[in-house]
Amino acid sequence: MIPIAKPFTGEEEIEAVTEVLRSGMLAQGKNVAQFEEDFAKYCGVREAVAVNNGTAALHAALLALGVSSGDEVIVPDFTFFATASSVCMCGARPVFADVDEKTFNVAVDSVEEKISPKTRAVIGVHLFGQPFDVTPLRELCEDAKIPLIEDAAQAHGATYHGKKVGGLGDAACFSFYPTKNMTTGEGGMVTTDNRDLAVKIRVIINHGQSEKYLHTCLGYNYRMTDIGAAIGLVQLRKLGSFNTRRQETAAFYDDHIPADGIETPVVVPGMTHVYHQYVLKVTPECRLSRDQLAIALRDKGIGTAVHYPIPLHRQPVFEECARKGSCPVADQLAGEVLSLPVHPLVTDKEREYICECINEVT
Ligand SMILES: Cc1ncc(COP(=O)(O)O)c(C=O)c1O
Repeated sequence: MIPIAKPFTGEEEIEAVTEVLRSGMLAQGKNVAQFEEDFAKYCGVREAVAVNNGTAALHAALLALGVSSGDEVIVPDFTFFATASSVCMCGARPVFADVDEKTFNVAVDSVEEKISPKTRAVIGVHLFGQPFDVTPLRELCEDAKIPLIEDAAQAHGATYHGKKVGGLGDAACFSFYPTKNMTTGEGGMVTTDNRDLAVKIRVIINHGQSEKYLHTCLGYNYRMTDIGAAIGLVQLRKLGSFNTRRQETAAFYDDHIPADGIETPVVVPGMTHVYHQYVLKVTPECRLSRDQLAIALRDKGIGTAVHYPIPLHRQPVFEECARKGSCPVADQLAGEVLSLPVHPLVTDKEREYICECINEVT
């Protein structure tokens, strides 16, 4: 089976982890500090705070920006659950904005419609590895005097008009889950240019301690381990080559997948897409439905996935929050999207085989 995702780690990561184990300093130590410094530099921002996963990154950033009970935070309806669950973790309510049918990214006019006096922040997601249209959303947030958070969990290294994601909003949140463009096992990072905000986040992720055993707010243990950071330091050095390989495979798919009823990803001018996922749209014009195509490919040994089968406003847990209007584009996409393997370990032969199979069955 060609897997839909596969982490790419090697001898260097094994050596780095072994060194940490031998050092005896397993929790937060010099590797975390170095990883934060290198990641901040990579994103072109002043501060990076390492945490234990991407959800914790979002939760800590929202708390530090003052989101609390009674507030609303606007999030795209078509994204991974954690973009919205992190809002609920602050006691606030996610309000779902619809997305663009071509890029799958948040639709700025839908965000505008959903802004209310209770809106305390907006989270934009660089979905599947392509930046959302930051400038108009940022202007909207500036007019409303609310912060813009980038959910960059799927977009390490993507650029928006030449600038790396991670420094485009008030704060940005990354995930290093094993299927992501780079990994630390589990892990996350908050990046920001705002030093005061970074200080607040460092307190929140360390039990609310402003100094040892002095707890000035309700905090959490969201710290990254030195083991994870050691892996992250190696992976960050490889990220460029990982992303290039993803982009090459995506370009191959763009050229070799037939157009009849199947739409390949649309990349907006000015953006670089780092293809965390390569997502097809299987439209009603295709001979097979999305689910039939997934089954036909599975029978040929090709793993696919649906990101995401249920828009957030239809998730049972968010029933209460879904009252603020519908999201028809997200509904439609949930029935049409299909992700192909695009991770850097997909071989030339495998991608040729995948295209041949799609040609054959459709
Ligand atoms: C868009 C998005 N946001 C947030 C997260 C949460 O990250 P983590 O799984 O590291 O908690 C993910 C992870 O899949 C994600 O894809």
